[in-house]
Amino acid sequence: MNRIDLLKKKAFEEKGFDGFLIANEANMLYFAGFPGASCLLFPRDGENMLYVYGVNYEQAKAEGKGFHVELVKRDENLMAKVAAKALDFGIKKLAFDTLTVENYRSLAKSLRGKAKLKPMGKLVWELRKVKDSGEIELMRKAGELVCEGMKAAYETVKPGVREYEVAAEIEYAMRRKGSWGTAFDTIVASGARSAFPHGGCTDREIREGDLVVVDIGACYRYYRSDMTRTLVAGKPSEKQKKLYEVVKTAQQKAVQAVKAKAKAKDIDTVARKIIEEAGHGVNFVHGLGHGIGLEVHEPPALSQQSKDKLAAGNVVTIEPGIYIVGFGGIRIEDTVLVREQGSEKFTDGFYTLEAST
Ligand code: GLY
Ligand code: MN
Ligand code: MN
Repeated sequence: MNRIDLLKKKAFEEKGFDGFLIANEANMLYFAGFPGASCLLFPRDGENMLYVYGVNYEQAKAEGKGFHVELVKRDENLMAKVAAKALDFGIKKLAFDTLTVENYRSLAKSLRGKAKLKPMGKLVWELRKVKDSGEIELMRKAGELVCEGMKAAYETVKPGVREYEVAAEIEYAMRRKGSWGTAFDTIVASGARSAFPHGGCTDREIREGDLVVVDIGACYRYYRSDMTRTLVAGKPSEKQKKLYEVVKTAQQKAVQAVKAKAKAKDIDTVARKIIEEAGHGVNFVHGLGHGIGLEVHEPPALSQQSKDKLAAGNVVTIEPGIYIVGFGGIRIEDTVLVREQGSEKFTDGFYTLEAST
C-alpha cells in the first residue's frame, strides 16, 4: 500500500474522516515526492489533488505522480479554492496536519460550517516515524556522505585554520560524493565556543589545544543525516581526554541499548547516568537525541520527558555531550536505525580527539 493509501486507511477507515489536507512542507514532500507544492488534498471519494503556484507548476506535473495537479493563480485565495473543492467532494470531516492561524481561519470561513476541521498531524507522524526500505536506503547513503565530510574535518582541523575553512572543506567533500546539500547549517565551534551546543560556525581562528565540535549533516534525495565529532587542534590535554572518554562511553552504551520496544527515556537514562556518575550531569544540557528523516528534528524524542517507545524503522540520533562554559564542549553523535534486535549505525568511525593532520 502506498503512503497516501496508508494515511487514508488510518484517517478514513479508523478515525471516520473523509478528507485530509496536507499543508506542512515536509509532509508534502513525503507524499508528493517533490518540494514546492502549496498543499495536498486527499478526499475519500475522488482524485488526490496537488495545489501549486505557477512557479512550480511544470515540476509538479513532471514529478508529482498520481495527483491531479491544480494551478493556483496569483490572485486566487488558496484556502478558498481548497474549501470549494472539499465541499465538491462532499467532505464533511476534514483532517489537516498543520495550518497557519491565518489559513485555518480562511479555510474555516470558506467551508461555511459545512465541514468540520480537525488537526490530525500525528497520523502523518505515525507513518513518517517508521522508515520504509526505500527511505532506509537513502538515509544509509546520507550517512555515508556525512562520514566523508567528517573525514575532511579530521584532515583540516589544526591550529591557524579558521572555522569557516573547516566547514568549506567538509561541505565540498560531501558535495563531491553526491550530497544534495547540507542537512542543516554546519557547526564548527572551537575553543570556548565549543561549549555552546549550537555554536554555529564563525571566522574564529582555531588555536593550539582548542576543542573543536564538528556537527554536520548531509542530504540525499531530501533525506538527512546528523553526525558530531569532537577533536582537538594539536595535542589533547589530560582533562580533555578524560572528559572525552566519559562522553564516548555514554554514547557507546546508549547506542548499544537501542532496539525496538525500548523506551526512549530509558536510552537517555543510560547515557545520562554515565555522565552524572562522572560528576557532569549539569553539563549535559540537552536530550540524548531525536528522530531524523526528511527533517533534522523529528519524533521520536530521546529525553527524560519523552513518552515515546522506539520501533523498528525509526531513525534516531544518539548525541550525549558535556559542555563547560569557558573550557569547551564535547559531543559525539551518530545517526542510527532502530532494528527489532539492536540497531544499525548510519554514521560511524572517528571516535578520537586526535586530528589526522
Ligand atoms: N545538528 C543539530 C543536532 O544535532 O540536533
Ligand atoms: Mn547534530
Ligand atoms: Mn542531532
